[in-house]
Amino acid sequence: MVSTSSNIFSPYKIGSISLKNRLSVAPMTRVSANEDGSVGPLMKDYYQSFSHGGFGLIITEGIYTDKHYSQCYRFQPGLTDEVQVNGWREITNAVHKHGTKIIAQLMHAGALSQYNKHNDHNAAPSTIKPLGREMTFYYGEGEYSVPKTMNKADITNVIKGFVNAAKLAQRSGFDGVEIHGANGYLLDQFITVYTNKRTDEYGGKLVNRLRIYNEIITEIRKAVGQDFIIGVRFSQAKVNDPEYKWPEKEVDAKYIFQATKRFGVDYIHTTELMAKDPAFEESLSLAKLAKRYGNTPVIANGGIRNKSDAKLLIDSNQADIISLGKIALANPNWPSAVKYQQKLKDFSFDMFDPIADLKTANRFLVKS
Ligand SMILES: Cc1cc2nc3c(=O)[nH]c(=O)nc-3n(C[C@H](O)[C@H](O)[C@H](O)COP(=O)(O)O)c2cc1C
Repeated sequence: MVSTSSNIFSPYKIGSISLKNRLSVAPMTRVSANEDGSVGPLMKDYYQSFSHGGFGLIITEGIYTDKHYSQCYRFQPGLTDEVQVNGWREITNAVHKHGTKIIAQLMHAGALSQYNKHNDHNAAPSTIKPLGREMTFYYGEGEYSVPKTMNKADITNVIKGFVNAAKLAQRSGFDGVEIHGANGYLLDQFITVYTNKRTDEYGGKLVNRLRIYNEIITEIRKAVGQDFIIGVRFSQAKVNDPEYKWPEKEVDAKYIFQATKRFGVDYIHTTELMAKDPAFEESLSLAKLAKRYGNTPVIANGGIRNKSDAKLLIDSNQADIISLGKIALANPNWPSAVKYQQKLKDFSFDMFDPIADLKTANRFLVKS
């Protein structure tokens, strides 16, 4: 199943899907949906620009999964009802026309929700106020609010939400789903000791703190069958705690990646500030650790800008696919620009000022 060629433009297979190259767009929240979580007017062109530009894979922005506690941002898209499904179907059709595959990233905000049309308070593994401040470029302001502790029924609703969203993703024409287990959002709050003080089967030892991943992945697999891709994303850093490292270092990495493979994922997506750097002092990169212990296709993300950064990760077998975030926003045609040796544009944070949405980005791209 794992192909041996190491060129960034060589084809690759994840599970049942064939990718035309090893280049993916990283998931990026663009707060450009309609107020009801359905696909907004600028989103189709946005996603299509990456398929035009030659990417083999697109992983969407984090999509909320239920009408309870999952929504994180105002104008975030959801996958919870038929109107939302119909909007996403237009995008998956458009992208597939250019031979690009597309995976829906499913995301639950937990304590980091800045706006939720469906609830007036947040819920998390434990009642702990998050570090840091809400993100203003996603319409946030001030400190995060204190979440309530999720009870068993809330956790059941989280799992049902992920499963339902995965089924709707399948109906919308996506090639798979990525479970957002990274960056400080709900699932990461379960893994992290300082945000999970539970004394039930979801807290304490790492096996318990990973239980919700196991339940979500197992239940999704039952619902979508073998051919629909299920991936999972892990990071050490959190949007509200960028310096965070896994406390037991490689011991944690080994446990997390081995367990995830057993849960039945088709790939692991790691993100670090710099994908190629050691995950801990003197260790391998997180991507390479995922390859070693997860024994599954790995997507590496973080700080990859140019062809040599990308080649390094693929050719040194640290990853099978690389995903590009900010540089892809500046260069939606990154694969074809690199292939035909055209100059790449620099990314500028002006693209997110004042709001990191598609309207602001489009205005910036026209000017630059
Ligand atoms: C505007 C923006 C939105 C993001 N939204 C998400 C998201 O919805 N889900 C996610 O897993 N990561 C998200 N990220 C993180 C990116 O996927 C990626 O990890 C990060 O930008 C680092 O990669 P880069 O150096 O290639 O930009 C976001 C990043 C940016 C810049």
